[in-house]
Amino acid sequence: MDRIWHGSWIAVARCDEVPAAGDFRVVEIGDQSVLLTRNDAGQWRAFHNTCRHRGSILCTEAQGRLRGGRITCPYHAWSYDLDGRLQTTPRRMPTADFDPADHGLFPVAVDTWGGFVFVHLGPVPAQPLAEALGWMPARFANHGLDTLVSGYRRVVDVQANWKLVCENFCECFHCPPVHPELCRVVPAYREGGAWGLHRDAEGRSIAEPGPEYLPGACTLTLDGTARVPPFAGLNDAQRAELYIPALLPPNLFLNVHPDYVNSHLMFPTGPGSVRIVYDWLFEPRALADPAFDLEHYVALWRTTNGQDARNCEWQQRGLRARPFEQGVFMPQEFDCHRFASWVRTALRSPATGQSPI
Ligand code: FES
Ligand SMILES: [Fe+2]
Repeated sequence: MDRIWHGSWIAVARCDEVPAAGDFRVVEIGDQSVLLTRNDAGQWRAFHNTCRHRGSILCTEAQGRLRGGRITCPYHAWSYDLDGRLQTTPRRMPTADFDPADHGLFPVAVDTWGGFVFVHLGPVPAQPLAEALGWMPARFANHGLDTLVSGYRRVVDVQANWKLVCENFCECFHCPPVHPELCRVVPAYREGGAWGLHRDAEGRSIAEPGPEYLPGACTLTLDGTARVPPFAGLNDAQRAELYIPALLPPNLFLNVHPDYVNSHLMFPTGPGSVRIVYDWLFEPRALADPAFDLEHYVALWRTTNGQDARNCEWQQRGLRARPFEQGVFMPQEFDCHRFASWVRTALRSPATGQSPI
């Protein structure tokens, strides 16, 4: 947790979960509780959810509105403004050595991209968020991710270490036995990962690649059909890119399609467990359509996400075998190796920076 989660940008919420000044949301990253709010100018503010008096948590609910635009501690009622400055200390007897300016809330770095709020628990982020995001902002510039709204959210506790969940996202070698529904709409995955499958060990072509997607498919749903128009900003080539997976380690996964996004935010709850928040994001005009068919869009990834979580739990259990010291990656699992290398580097040096996979 120290080397990776306390030294990386962590996606924690959608921006519209804190719509206005004085609204708040509390997020838990391991044993760290972070309070997100917006100040009177509407700017994002994040603080450790901890009072500077004697350390009580400040907000006891996960989400809500701060009464009177103040963050008030439930223990002795010290209160702070939306910029974290200590404002009132009711019933305190005056002493010469106490300066309220020394007792503001502990700030946490906060920034946004694509409609997600990110926080960084380190004293100084190793790199700005925009840099950590690498290729992602340019690749998704026309998708309007910041305008999307969650039409459906699932929160699932998975009994697996977060790194197994990341590795699972990094490869599709498991797709044929695990994801029959996904393989139906992306037949290229049937062969075990859609990478290097038509070449021998020397890289010579040994077979003609089949179609990547189900013929006629417009998006990734159970039958490949769409019920809403593609995102307004996409060009023709981008409309034909039915699936772009993206992982910003350690905790943001995106399955991006031309008309919706399936996003995952991951929060470790222990060495062998993680809470995953899955959202299905749409343009507001899609959700506003009375004929909008949510189930049509939710079914594929709800099934697929569930299959992945189940397999990570089975792997977590299997890893307990006393003789098991290490596994082995197959060529299709090259991104697992990249992720594992990133973990190893980060464990050696906390300020290595992030880069998306
Ligand atoms: S611990 Fe917060 S006011 Fe005392
Ligand atoms: Fe999977």
